[in-house]
Amino acid sequence: MEKREIANRNDIILLVDSFYDKVKTDDVIGFIFNDVAKVDWPHHLPIMYNFWEGLLLDGGNYKGNVMDPHFKLNKLIPLEPAYFDRWLQLFEATVAENFTGEKATLAVTRARSVKGIMSFKMNQVNRPDSDKQIPLVNPGNKQ
Ligand code: HEM
Repeated sequence: MEKREIANRNDIILLVDSFYDKVKTDDVIGFIFNDVAKVDWPHHLPIMYNFWEGLLLDGGNYKGNVMDPHFKLNKLIPLEPAYFDRWLQLFEATVAENFTGEKATLAVTRARSVKGIMSFKMNQVNRPDSDKQIPLVNPGNKQ
């Protein structure tokens, strides 16, 4: 298929639909959506169209809270960094297969950015003591 620019809502719909087609059948993260969250796709997809339209084309009117559903999901199954890495891999592959141009690059930049923050926040919740593992005083340095 010829690659296109992300120029309008139809392109956003193609991006989001193609991405979740991969997600749903993915060996690594598919089960989280299908079996753990049991996502209601007709409900979820239009929210995602709005979200991505907002990030890429300044439209879409997304008014949700991106982090909340993930904190809730994280209680059912810890959202490990490896899951986020896979999520991003699938997203980047979707963009590369279908799109070209400035907005395609922006889509990947924005996805990396939100993924990085989200993964960091889940990790903070899952490993509350992780910051305390770095000794403030080097134990080998005692005098
Ligand atoms: C392993 C990584 C991820 C998993 C397993 C995951 C899973 C989910 C699930 C199950 C939902 C709720 C769907 C429902 O309404 O039932 C959701 C919502 C959502 N996710 Fe993710 N997600 C991941 C990463 C991301 C990332 C990196 C982004 C952003 C770049 C993102 C953006 C969103 C948005 C915008 C919503 C809708 C929130 C709302 O309802 O307003 N997700 N996600």
